Amino acid sequence: MSKALDGVRILDFTHVQSGPTCTQLLAWFGADVIKVERAGAGDITREQLRDITDVDSLYFTMLNHNKRSVTIDTKNPEGKLVLEALIQKCDVLVENFAPGALDRMGFTWERIQELNPRMIVASVKGFGPGPYEDCKVYENVAQCAGGAASTTGFDDGPPVVSGAQIGDSGTGLHLALGIVTALYQRTQTGRGQKVLAAMQDGVLNLCRVKLRDQQRLERTGTMKEYPQYPNGTFGEAVPRAGNASGGGQPGWILKCKGWETDPNAYIYFITQAPVWAKICNVIGKEDWATDPNYATPAARLPHLKDIFAEIERWTMTKTKFEAMQILNKYDIPCGPILSMKEIAEEPSLRKTGTIVEVDHPTRGKYLTVGNPIKLSDSPTEVKRSPLLGEHTDEVMTELGYSPEQISALRTAGAI
Ligand code: COA
Repeated sequence: MSKALDGVRILDFTHVQSGPTCTQLLAWFGADVIKVERAGAGDITREQLRDITDVDSLYFTMLNHNKRSVTIDTKNPEGKLVLEALIQKCDVLVENFAPGALDRMGFTWERIQELNPRMIVASVKGFGPGPYEDCKVYENVAQCAGGAASTTGFDDGPPVVSGAQIGDSGTGLHLALGIVTALYQRTQTGRGQKVLAAMQDGVLNLCRVKLRDQQRLERTGTMKEYPQYPNGTFGEAVPRAGNASGGGQPGWILKCKGWETDPNAYIYFITQAPVWAKICNVIGKEDWATDPNYATPAARLPHLKDIFAEIERWTMTKTKFEAMQILNKYDIPCGPILSMKEIAEEPSLRKTGTIVEVDHPTRGKYLTVGNPIKLSDSPTEVKRSPLLGEHTDEVMTELGYSPEQISALRTAGAI
């Protein structure tokens, strides 16, 4: 079966996490992704957090599936010529170097346009134009600068970063959307363009509801669904909301049977208004369905702590899966807190290709997260990540280099 991005060639100059997640997605959609790395070293993540000596780390393998790897020293004059040939052949150049690195290599936007006016140049940077535009940025810096850390955690504790890599993988997703959009526009204009996804912007986009709350707070001085209401105090900025739901239906994380020994024996429970009477029935508080202090969402807001304490008395008598089964029967929105071990072993996620087992020549079998976006006409087949420079000769041959030229470039240290 053909793939959505068949025929699209990506010159992948990405490293670490943010950029590679973007190009991996494009590869899963069928683009030919040619990853350029430095000979002898490669993407730094190949050797970071290794669990097997001298074998590409899971960090690298899980972010670079379905790509080809070529080694080019882009600071070597002959290496630069190879890169120029690739720029002329590819549709998109994706990079997430520190600010200015591509220019310092001699590949400014103007130079790239000279070589290939149809080229889309897509970049992840930590910050957009402004006071921090020259800064190097990693995941947690973006979570802090994008509003996630100040709004995550509990009121009486410090800011907390999330386990979800919203700065890196989140920005990679934003960039991928920018790239396919630019490819679509190119079908009309025939021109390439620059695509920028700044990590601060990406995180802020994912924290949109917190900017909503900032403005609500400034107007009304309070937010009734936050745990600070009614007995705590609100300051000038959106406070950390603990496990309160980000939407209009109050929710909280509640203990389940076994919580004393299992750190994940918890369930997320949402007191959705339309099923309030059913919630009251399930937990044995039928009178709350008609009691004026509890019957309406507005009446319940000052009592949320007591309500969740009462519901928790019920959830603590069930495992998270038993509670889930019972609550689902009544359409009460809830979700078990799943550990990574439980997720890795979940058969339904294997079945949909969301968790995939991949075989690697030096690592053997390992698990990865497959493509979370499913296209009915462009199914994803997850293929192992490339070894460093595995496709250098293949790609060089496609560019028209003879075996003798390839060997001379290798001797000169250009590839
Ligand atoms: N041949 C020759 N040189 C190469 C090369 C190649 N194939 N590939 C990379 N290089 C060079 C670059 O040109 C750069 O050289 P310069 O500093 O002389 O200009 C150098 O390698 C290092 O690149 P840099 O991006 O600065 O790497 P770093 O390890 O110092 O910084 C980051 C890493 C992630 C902090 C930085 O790249 C960054 O801020 N990126 C943008 C934001 C981002 O994506 N962050 C999240 C990463 S998950």
